[in-house]
Amino acid sequence: MTRRMTGLFISFEGIDGAGKSTHIETLAQAFRAQGRAVLLTREPGGTPLAEVLRTLVLNEAMDAMTEALLVFAARRDHLKQKIEPALSRGEVVLSDRFTDATFAYQGGGRGFDSAVLSTLERWVQAIDNDAKTAIRQPDLTLWFDLAPALAAERLADARVPDKFESQPVEFFSRVAKAYGQRMAEQPERFARIDADNSREVVGQAVMRALQQKGYLT
Ligand code: TYD
Repeated sequence: MTRRMTGLFISFEGIDGAGKSTHIETLAQAFRAQGRAVLLTREPGGTPLAEVLRTLVLNEAMDAMTEALLVFAARRDHLKQKIEPALSRGEVVLSDRFTDATFAYQGGGRGFDSAVLSTLERWVQAIDNDAKTAIRQPDLTLWFDLAPALAAERLADARVPDKFESQPVEFFSRVAKAYGQRMAEQPERFARIDADNSREVVGQAVMRALQQKGYLT
């Protein structure tokens, strides 16, 4: 009989243009090479309902509270339908963004009350539906940190910008600051990756962070 593995939950964060996405696939391959089942997913999104909410959030103008409620509604569905079942099966869940993005974008970027976000976080991420007990958080969050001006340069060469990508650089300075605050509050969960390097060097830093945690050999 094979030993039952413990699920592992890793999220990837950073401002738009920081370059996180290219490293998620590489990590998925590294885990698969070590015999782990991997669920690759993203937020907002990851389920049919949450993908519909994603389209709304990324394309429609709305006030910051509406935006926060929609991303948390998407997250609730994502957790119930996909993340929790995968973790129970012992899989590795790699999520392109999770709740830190809400604190960074809706909290930092749009200036929405982070105390309200903390309340929503406790309700939506409650394990066993009990808002008073433990909450689901990633085991590790890789924060791809890049100066907003550099990220804007990278984005300028890319695709048609969505609602957030077309924000001015000051918006992303606030988003980046809020990521830094989240890391300061929960340092044991975070690894900061200096994203102002070649893809290869950033990839090596990602592997080192995983090895330091003992998640990859
Ligand atoms: P992103 O993850 O960058 O995907 P893509 O590479 O396809 O553009 O886009 C998601 C956007 O949604 C990003 O601008 C951040 C934003 N976002 C929030 O504002 N709040 C959230 O809670 C989450 C998860 C994302």
